[in-house]
Amino acid sequence: MKMKGKTVVITGGANGIGAVAAELFGKQGAQVAIIDFNENAGEKLAARLHAQGIEAAFFKTNVAKDSEVKSTAEKVLAHFGKVDVLINNAGITRDAMLLKMESETFQQVIDVNLTGVFHCTQAFLPAMLEVGKGKIINTSSIAGLGGNVGQTNYAASKAGIVGMTRTWAKEFGRKGINVNAVSPGFIETDMIGTIPEKVLAHIKQMTPFTRLGRPEDIANAYLFLASDDADFINGTVLEVDGGMLK
Ligand code: NAI
Repeated sequence: MKMKGKTVVITGGANGIGAVAAELFGKQGAQVAIIDFNENAGEKLAARLHAQGIEAAFFKTNVAKDSEVKSTAEKVLAHFGKVDVLINNAGITRDAMLLKMESETFQQVIDVNLTGVFHCTQAFLPAMLEVGKGKIINTSSIAGLGGNVGQTNYAASKAGIVGMTRTWAKEFGRKGINVNAVSPGFIETDMIGTIPEKVLAHIKQMTPFTRLGRPEDIANAYLFLASDDADFINGTVLEVDGGMLK
């Protein structure tokens, strides 16, 4: 029970990695606030977690909208009374080669993946500062560290996450807040659903373990960084990609 009594906020928590993380944290004793704009999936997940005896609540929110995030933070604090861990996991892709990428598509990905993390951290950090302890975990990507064809917008957003993570680690370390990031490789979720089989086979071959990652692989990394075991880890980017980037 590594998370007993902790309140954990997970953005993009309704599906994929976030949903698996919500269940894992719940099983480890946490109260879980699921933040997502997919109401149907979010409500269903909260109900499924409840049925397992996990204290979970869903808060419909578009992380790209500052006012929605602020109002959700107030609701989460009113509901759970505190927040110990924030996992900035919500993310989207809108891929195109550079010369074909529209400015709106570029901005859309930045708004969710980068500005969304800025909004959520601004909204939830004050409650952590008040008690002088907290863990913030951001989600970068192998594309942010190594670049990826067709992902100018996505790679830029995920590289930006690294800069914000290291900046916040320096700004808030002395106030008792750890800020770290996880950088997933290619993980079996809806996000990679549009990648053709042939390309996926190539990706597996490029990975020393010759497989894709599973959502559990990332959820376990979130759990480690959120736990007391990681109290002296700050400003790091944990690569969970099976060694693909090396
Ligand atoms: P997913 O597509 O399965 O789930 C993403 C969740 O975020 C969905 O529930 C979606 O509704 C939510 N979301 C999207 N935009 C939102 C918004 N504006 N406001 C609130 N919620 C929003 O994706 P997956 O794979 O679980 O990704 C989770 C994180 O991991 C993302 O940040 C992604 O960029 C990152 N990642 C994923 C990789 C992969 O191969 N699946 C690789 C590297 C990073």
